[in-house]
Amino acid sequence: MTEDRPTGPPGPGSLVVTNIGELITNDPERGGLVGRMSDAAIVVEDGVISWVGHAADLPRDLPADPQDADGRAMLPGFVDSHTHVAYGGDRLDEFIDRAEGATYEDILAAGGGIYSTVEATRSQSLVDQIAAAMGRLERMFATGTTTVEMKSGYGLDVETEFGLVSTGRAIDAALPIDVVSTFLGAHVVAPEFLDDRSAYLDLVNGPMLQVMAEYVSFVDVFCDPVAFTVDEARTVAAAAHANGLDVRIHADQTGRIGAAARAAEVGAASADHLDHVTDSDLEAMAEAGTTGVLVPGASFSLRLPYPDGRRVWDSGVTVALATDHNPGTSPVETMPFVIALAVAGLGLTPDEAIWSATRGGALSLRLDDRGMIAPGKVADLVLLSGRPADLAYRPDRPFVTNVVKAGNVVV
Ligand code: NIG
Ligand code: FE
Repeated sequence: MTEDRPTGPPGPGSLVVTNIGELITNDPERGGLVGRMSDAAIVVEDGVISWVGHAADLPRDLPADPQDADGRAMLPGFVDSHTHVAYGGDRLDEFIDRAEGATYEDILAAGGGIYSTVEATRSQSLVDQIAAAMGRLERMFATGTTTVEMKSGYGLDVETEFGLVSTGRAIDAALPIDVVSTFLGAHVVAPEFLDDRSAYLDLVNGPMLQVMAEYVSFVDVFCDPVAFTVDEARTVAAAAHANGLDVRIHADQTGRIGAAARAAEVGAASADHLDHVTDSDLEAMAEAGTTGVLVPGASFSLRLPYPDGRRVWDSGVTVALATDHNPGTSPVETMPFVIALAVAGLGLTPDEAIWSATRGGALSLRLDDRGMIAPGKVADLVLLSGRPADLAYRPDRPFVTNVVKAGNVVV
C-alpha cells in the first residue's frame, strides 16, 4: 500500500489498461478454467468493466487515457470468503504450546483457545478493536484482497458481538475493501452458559440475532465435535432463514459429525474447513449448491494434515479458498500465501487455486458481480510483477504491485 492511508472507499472510477501480458478473466466464454488471455486490454467505466479484449482491438473512444501494464499479469481481486478479523489479543503462546505437544482440543477444553480470545475481546475498547482490524485489512488489501468476509464470534454476548459486527461495518465504510459481515454467535457456548447450552442457543437465535440481522449477510455456526451438534446447527440455520439471512457452516474441522451434509440439507451457501468430509457429504453439497471453503492456513498453523482438496474439487463442489484469518488457528492474512498452501497442501493446480481465490470466493458469498474480468463485473483487479502461477511457485516473494478497487488504482 502507498504511504498515504486511504481515507474512504473510492467512488466509481474509469480506467483503461493495455499491454496486459497475461489476463486471468475467469470468464467461461473465453475457455479453460480461468479464461486466460495474452496481450490483453480492459476498459472500466464508472467502476464497472465495460470491455475486455486483445490490446490490438482496443476501442478508439475511451473513457480515460490508457495505462500501460508493461506486460504484467492481471487477475480479479481476491475474495477472501472466511475470516475472523476482529478480535483482541493474540495466541502466540498457544501456538508455542501446540508445537510443544498440546492439542487445539485440549487447550479449548481447558478454557483457553477461543475462550481466551473471547476474554481479550470483551476487555478491548471498540477504538482499539477497529484500529487492530483496520491494520489487518489494510495489509490484506495491499496484497490483493478486494472483498473480505468477516465473522463475529469472539464476543458471545450481545454487546461484544454487536461491537464486532460494527467494526466490520465501520471498516467497510472507511476503507476501499468491501466487507461482507457474518454473525457467528454460535462459535462456542458462551462461558456464562456452559451448564445450559440450550439457553445460550436461545439467546443466539433470538435476541442476539434480532440485534445483528440488519447488519449482516450471513449467519455461521461452528458445527464440530468441540462446538455445536448438527441438531443445534439446524436451529441456527432455521433462525437465520427466518430472518432472511443466508447460512455458512464451519463443518467437520476437528472430526466428522455430519456437518457438511447438514450444510447441504439446510441449503447453506458454504460449508467450510471440510477436513473430515466424506464423498457422500460432498455429493450432497454439490447437489445443493453449497460451496466448499477450504482454509489451508488452519492446517498449516495447527500443523495438521491438509484436507483432500483434490477430492473436493473433483467432486464437482464449487471450491473457494480463504485465509480463515483468526488468532488461534490461522494468523495468515494474505491470499497469495493461501494459494501457495492450496497447491502445496490441498493438491489443487495453480489455475484451480487462483480461480478458487477469486471467482470461487465470490460464488461462495453469493456475489455474482465479482471474481471475473468480464463486461458488467465490478472492476476489482490485481496486477502482478510475475506470472499468476508464481504466487504458488515463489510463495515468499511479493508479486502484487497494484490493487484496483472499483476502477480506482488504490495501491
Ligand atoms: O475457523 N473453527 C472455528 N473457528 C476458527 C478458530 C477459532 C479460534 O480458534 O479462535 C477457525 O479455525
Ligand atoms: Fe473460521
